[in-house]
Amino acid sequence: MTKHNKVLFLNDLISKVGSLRKEGKIVVQSHGIFDLIHPGIIKHLNEAKEQGDILIVTVIKDKDVRRGPGRPIFPENFRVENVSSLEQVDYVCLVDDEIPFSCVKSIKPDVFAKGQAYKERDIKIHDKIFEEEKEFYFGKSKIYETGGFSFSSSQIINNFLDIYPNETKNFLKKFSDKYGFDEIVEKLNSLKKLKVIIIGDGIIDEYHYCEPMGKSAKSPIIVNKYLNHEVFAGGAFIIANHIAGLCDKVQLVSLLGKEESREDFIVNNLKPNIGTKFFYRDDGPTVCKKRYINLNQKVFEINYLNNVYINGSCELDVINYLKSTISEYDLVLISDFGHGFITNNIINAIKDFSKIFAVNTQTNAANAGFNMITKYNNPNFVCLDEIEVRLGTQDRFGDIEDIAKKLSNMLNADGLIVTLGKKGSIGVNSANEINRTPVFSTKVIDTVGAGDAFFAFAAPCFAHGMPLNLVSFIGNAAGALAVQIVGNKKPVEKYELLEFINAMLKHSP
Ligand SMILES: Nc1ncnc2c1ncn2[C@@H]1O[C@H](COP(=O)(O)OP(=O)(O)O)[C@@H](O)[C@H]1O
Ligand SMILES: [Mg+2]
Repeated sequence: MTKHNKVLFLNDLISKVGSLRKEGKIVVQSHGIFDLIHPGIIKHLNEAKEQGDILIVTVIKDKDVRRGPGRPIFPENFRVENVSSLEQVDYVCLVDDEIPFSCVKSIKPDVFAKGQAYKERDIKIHDKIFEEEKEFYFGKSKIYETGGFSFSSSQIINNFLDIYPNETKNFLKKFSDKYGFDEIVEKLNSLKKLKVIIIGDGIIDEYHYCEPMGKSAKSPIIVNKYLNHEVFAGGAFIIANHIAGLCDKVQLVSLLGKEESREDFIVNNLKPNIGTKFFYRDDGPTVCKKRYINLNQKVFEINYLNNVYINGSCELDVINYLKSTISEYDLVLISDFGHGFITNNIINAIKDFSKIFAVNTQTNAANAGFNMITKYNNPNFVCLDEIEVRLGTQDRFGDIEDIAKKLSNMLNADGLIVTLGKKGSIGVNSANEINRTPVFSTKVIDTVGAGDAFFAFAAPCFAHGMPLNLVSFIGNAAGALAVQIVGNKKPVEKYELLEFINAMLKHSP
């Protein structure tokens, strides 16, 4: 067989496997990144092949590789070519890995060959998948564990190849001396029991993709042709979705418009373990932000919203609700976009009745710097980006570490993290000590929602008593995963975070 026709599209592979099985052939599937072809991989593939007649290999696309900075080393076309050049491999296909192993379900091989890389990780990361939810992910395919020869690509890469920038390398070395992967998994798993209530502005994010056609005959503008559009539940909605992957009980309190409420869409886009309490304003719609994208470039944005504070009777309803429920929760998380929901009286009620509260005040075009963190006194945890911190202290050019300390003192916060976009983040703890975390991703698709993902993962970690350097590490890993997602298309999932952290912390035993 020539190398060329080994590589198939998913649909072709599905029908190929179907007809091979009809002929009575036993089809075995192996699934992974295959960033390095090393002895462990070869042993795994040989043993997999021995379990049947035909070996197919599904290779994870670049966009779904979650192994930390600089990964994959080789782009997908090279990884596919490497695998297809191996004698024991019969067919190769490039696949999405958004829901892990969903391709196994659609390909329906007789056997799924699970390699050492999964074996050592699945207890921590994929336990539910391989045990409790086997049927859902693998259908009727038998799982076969290939043996003995333990080599991890990530371990080889981290130890022998120079893939990290110096700052990241030094950081990871020090960090992995302090924290092991198992300890982090345990801590993240213990967040399941944390009861979280999220109070904030929900936003519908729309992306309208269009193509320039030409100049209008009547005015000096370029006229575009509509191609398609996507709608996502953003703001407090996506924050609730991020947290619902970590914590079992999540309550969302938000404001919708009586007209254009889009409540069905919102509810359909929330994870099933999120309870909701919506309030309605009759003087404006549910906040919607519509962006027009032309050749991958945002060219225009229009916001549908009424920015003024909700009226007194709506405010009172919110306060009464919070007074009666807030004490049931371990963490109150405030996602304040300054779109009229969270009034000063509501802030006071939150402060009076919450055990721990964490807050993020967003600066955006609609609030023009009026939505300041200084509205909040004595917060337990604050997470802001650099501009928000500079606005809060009215210091535009000073040293960011000094400014972060100053703001932490001004607010009397127990913990404050400043996210610095591609420069990572800095944290200030209650003893006014600073820790810096470098950025973990060099691959950026869209930074919208990166700060929200950071906050959503960092706040529960902080509330659970993790030290600020660990909180920053987890937040930065969530931020790195979020910049690989278009807008707020989907939340960052816990298994993605764990895969990412596991790969980054792999060093010589
Ligand atoms: N350009 C980027 N490259 C890599 N990581 C980024 C980038 N922008 C954001 N991040 C990650 O997301 C986190 C939050 O992003 P940031 O831009 O600071 O917040 P916000 O979205 O609120 O403005 C950062 O701390 C970092 O981990
Ligand atoms: Mg932000």
